[in-house]
Amino acid sequence: MNLGKLNSKPIGVFDSGVGGISVLRELVKIMPCEDFIYFGDSANAPYGTKTTEEVRELTIAKVEDFIKIPVKGCVIACNSATSAAVRVLREMYPDLPLVGIEPALKPAATYKRNSRVLVLATPMTIKEDKFRFLFERFEDIATIYKLPCPGLMEYVEEGKADSAEVKNFLEGLLMPYRDGSIDAVVLGCTHYPFVRSTISGILGPGIRIFDGSEGTAREMRRRLDVAGLLTDRTTKGNVTFENSEKSEDKIELCKQLLYSEVSE
Ligand code: DGL
Repeated sequence: MNLGKLNSKPIGVFDSGVGGISVLRELVKIMPCEDFIYFGDSANAPYGTKTTEEVRELTIAKVEDFIKIPVKGCVIACNSATSAAVRVLREMYPDLPLVGIEPALKPAATYKRNSRVLVLATPMTIKEDKFRFLFERFEDIATIYKLPCPGLMEYVEEGKADSAEVKNFLEGLLMPYRDGSIDAVVLGCTHYPFVRSTISGILGPGIRIFDGSEGTAREMRRRLDVAGLLTDRTTKGNVTFENSEKSEDKIELCKQLLYSEVSE
């Protein structure tokens, strides 16, 4: 393989929809000269309420499409798809720099003693082995509450991340945790950083919020560096958007989310 050539190829970023933009944003921030192809599978979303087999199949198919382009590395910017497929993809393509995302439980469980952490994620992420193993690693040092949030990603997919509807939905969901029983929240789905300020507004300023997008981006850069695949270019790279739902609105929403500021 001609590495000199491969390092000028784009990095593929994949999610069930527009949520992975929260990871893409971090990737672009730390690797501004790279090219990225962002693929959202909005036509098949949500993934988090599908079976593991369905999501595994969709994820493998997309990574194989990326490999054909080719991309020089691949980010599965979806916690649900990562739980369903990352292990098998690593076995299938051991040479591909491939990075997934998982709920940022480690920093949330260790930032203080006896941390009380609420993990928000899709039903799939919460029930999969990957999260069970992560939970078991930290259950002795932190109190961890798991809250599956079916229905939440849809607001972000529909461009309603800042709406009164999502605020209403989140108020109902988070009501039991407004009594001082938690210290931290983990955003365990890549769609959720786009409703971060609403979550923070409901739970109050004392609650720390963690998400795994920055760590995931750093891991991709590290993997490309180790493989000698970082670009030599010093000018700004391009971001190309694709979506299985063939609508200009979706692409517009992706662009809007990429350039939006998310505050705590
Ligand atoms: N963005 C995806 C994740 O991180 C899930 C949303 C979905 O249910 O498709 O899990």
